[in-house]
Amino acid sequence: METIIKKTKDENAISEAGAILKNGGLVAFPTETVYGLGGDALRPEASKHIYAAKGRPSDNPLIVHIADTKDVYILAKEVSPKAEALMEAFWPGPMTLIFKKNPLVPDETTGGLDTVAIRMPSHPDALKLIKESGVYIAAPSANTSGRPSPSTAEHVIEDLNHKIDMILDGGPVGIGIESTIVDMTGTIPTICRPGFITKKMLESIIGEVEIDKALIHPELNLHPKAPGMKYTHYAPHGSLTIVESKDDESSVNQAVIDKINQLVNEKEKEGYKTAVLTTADNKASYKCDNIVLLGAKGDGVTVAARLYAALRECDSIKADFIYSEGFNRDDLGGAIMNRLIKSAGHKVILV
Ligand code: TXA
Ligand code: MG
Repeated sequence: METIIKKTKDENAISEAGAILKNGGLVAFPTETVYGLGGDALRPEASKHIYAAKGRPSDNPLIVHIADTKDVYILAKEVSPKAEALMEAFWPGPMTLIFKKNPLVPDETTGGLDTVAIRMPSHPDALKLIKESGVYIAAPSANTSGRPSPSTAEHVIEDLNHKIDMILDGGPVGIGIESTIVDMTGTIPTICRPGFITKKMLESIIGEVEIDKALIHPELNLHPKAPGMKYTHYAPHGSLTIVESKDDESSVNQAVIDKINQLVNEKEKEGYKTAVLTTADNKASYKCDNIVLLGAKGDGVTVAARLYAALRECDSIKADFIYSEGFNRDDLGGAIMNRLIKSAGHKVILV
C-alpha cells in the first residue's frame, strides 16, 4: 500500500488526514509524548487494522484520544471528582486516565477489557486532527510492536511505511516518552505507567496515589494493570545491559566506567559490535567506537527526549551489545528507568 507522507504544516495535510480517519483509515500523527498510530476508536475494524500494522497482540488495549473534556462523559461511566480534578490540572497534556467504559466503545479498542483509557493530548497538530476528523482517535505509539516508540516521523517511516494510509510529519516530539497512565477505577488512583506527569504532581492535586505493585516488584511476577507493561518493550535489536553503582544507582563512579569498558573490550575481542549509552558529561571516559549520547546527566527532560532516538541509533550502528549507565529514579527519572530497564529486559549489573 502507498503511504501518503506530508508535513503537518502543508496546506490541507491535516484535513486530508482527518478525512482518512473518518473513512476508517489509519494515520500516524505527532503528539507531545511520542507519535501515535490513529484510527477511529469506535470502529472495530479500524482497531483491528492498528493491531495488524503494529504486529501488536490484540489483548493490549488502545488509548482513546479526545479534544474536548466533555467527551469523557460519552466514553466513560463513573467520572469521579478526583478524575475531574486531574483532567482540569493536566489536560490537555501527557496523562491518560482509565475509567469504566460505556458500551459504545468496542471491545476491539479496549482489548476486551470493560475499562477505557482516555487522553487529551496538548500537541496542536494532534488536537487539530481530532477536531477535523470528527472521531475519537484510538492511538497506540506508532512503532512496530516491541521496538522503541517513535519520537520523529522518520522513526514512524522506518516501522510503518507501506502499512498505513498516511504519516503526518510534525517534526520531533517534545517529551519523548509515553504519557503517565493513571487507573481511576479503584479507591486509590494507581499509576500503571510512569511518565512526565509524576506521582508528586498527581498527589499535589488529589492526595494519595499508588504505583502499580507489578512495576515496583517485577520479581513477584504480578499482572500489571496496564497489559502493555508485561511485554518486552522499547527494545533495540542489540542486547542492552545497564551498569550501576550498588551504593548509589544514579552515580557513575569509576567502578561503573571500568565495568562498562571491560565488557566492551571483551565483546569487541569476540568480534561483536558494541555501543555505550552515556551523557556528554562522561563521554570521554569510555573506550568504545560507538558512543551514543543521551541528554545531560541530572537533566531528565533532555534524557527522556533523546532516549528512544538513542536506542534506534544503536540499531542503525548495528550494535550487538549495548551498555548504558543508570539514572536516578526520582520524578521523571523513574519513568526513564522504567523504560530503560524494560528495554534491557531487566539486565542490570550492580558494581
Ligand atoms: O503518550 C502516549 O500515551 C502515546 C501517545 C500516542 O498518546 N500512546 C501510547 O499508547 O503510548 P500505547 O498503546 O503504546 O500504550 C498504551 C498503554 C499500554 O500499556 C496499554 O496496555 C495501556 O496503555 N492501556 C490502554 N487501555 C488500558 C486499559 N483500559 N486498562 C489498562 N491499561 C490500558
Ligand atoms: Mg507503545
